[in-house]
Amino acid sequence: MAVKTVQDLIDEGVEGRHVLVRSDLNVPLKDGAITDPGRIDASLPTLRALLEAGARVIVSAHLGRPKGEPNPEFSLGPVAEALSERLDMYVPLASDVTGEDAHERANGLNDGDILLLENVRFDARETSKDECERAEFAAELAALTADNGAFVSDGFGVVHRAQASVYDVAKKLPHYAGGLVNTELEVLKKVSDDADKPYAVVLGGSKVSDKLGVIEALAPQVDNLIIGGGMCFTFLAAQGYEVGGSLLQEDMIDTCKDLLERFGDVIVLPVDVEVAEAFDKDANHRTVDLKSIPAGWMGLDIGPESVKKFGDILSNAKTVFWNGPMGVFEFENFAAGTKGVAQAIIDATAAGAFSVVGGGDSAAAVRTLGLDEEGFSHISTGGGASLEYLEGKELPGVAVLES
Ligand code: 3PG
Repeated sequence: MAVKTVQDLIDEGVEGRHVLVRSDLNVPLKDGAITDPGRIDASLPTLRALLEAGARVIVSAHLGRPKGEPNPEFSLGPVAEALSERLDMYVPLASDVTGEDAHERANGLNDGDILLLENVRFDARETSKDECERAEFAAELAALTADNGAFVSDGFGVVHRAQASVYDVAKKLPHYAGGLVNTELEVLKKVSDDADKPYAVVLGGSKVSDKLGVIEALAPQVDNLIIGGGMCFTFLAAQGYEVGGSLLQEDMIDTCKDLLERFGDVIVLPVDVEVAEAFDKDANHRTVDLKSIPAGWMGLDIGPESVKKFGDILSNAKTVFWNGPMGVFEFENFAAGTKGVAQAIIDATAAGAFSVVGGGDSAAAVRTLGLDEEGFSHISTGGGASLEYLEGKELPGVAVLES
């Protein structure tokens, strides 16, 4: 069955109707301040479209991973403020998720009003493995919409989670895909089924085990699979290099050897690394070649020769997918690899390549390093969700919209 979209819902008419929207507003916070509002900004078009059409909008979302009970540290308070500023209207935050306050506020909404529910993960049933518990919580969420309600799934970053507010609630209400979910799926389809060649994938981040599925799925399709970040040291160890105190997944060395055997013609590894005496922003550091990583020192970034090598490959690419930083970009001394690769992708995009940044830390890196967001064709809001899509896994929050 074709998935109905939020535009279909608007065309049906939403005036006087309560519309429950699941957004992904899981933004990073430092001392209570939002450090990267990317996901909030990406959620605005769907919310604006519904509000302008006269819907009574109830937004559900999670923040972090609280342990199934209210915890002020994970309150959506800062998000409600950020939404209010951006939508230029007051966005009240219910003090509970499906309790008395949420009901009273939902009942009091007028056409074109909006309400944000408190963190759905304050209720343990949201992430319960027990389907009945999730169904019960989903029914409570759906009940907030009163008669003639609807559900819009717009939190792309959570569609890989079979959770009550993402998955089970779609079984309780007429359901529609939000604009963000649609755009993200279209883009990912393009880089999985229909990619122009040469196709280069850049993977970073700390663990090989997190990227194994996507390496297996993409290596046979791509021309170059560039590997940097902490995970490259397990590959380098598999090639016989001494990696000192660098991040190493010993139990993955044999897997990396196998990957290198099967996909050695496409996998590209760094040729030099920036090593540090300690994991500290001010640690002593220097650039070394792969044979010269001193015992006890750790690689915290790829080196300048690697940036050049990766950049040369990227400059020829027609499609680029990037997930995972090249080093500890949060420390200025170890940000050059991530910056250099990001800039090479921006340059390739300017020269006509289609480029996608796959959510999570790489999207945060683009924004916190002050790179030009517009320089990429698309920055996904979903790290885990986009990787699972590219691995070929079914995304429960998308599959349920098809029923
Ligand atoms: C994310 O940050 O990738 C999404 O918001 C999903 O969050 P989760 O990994 O805690 O389910």
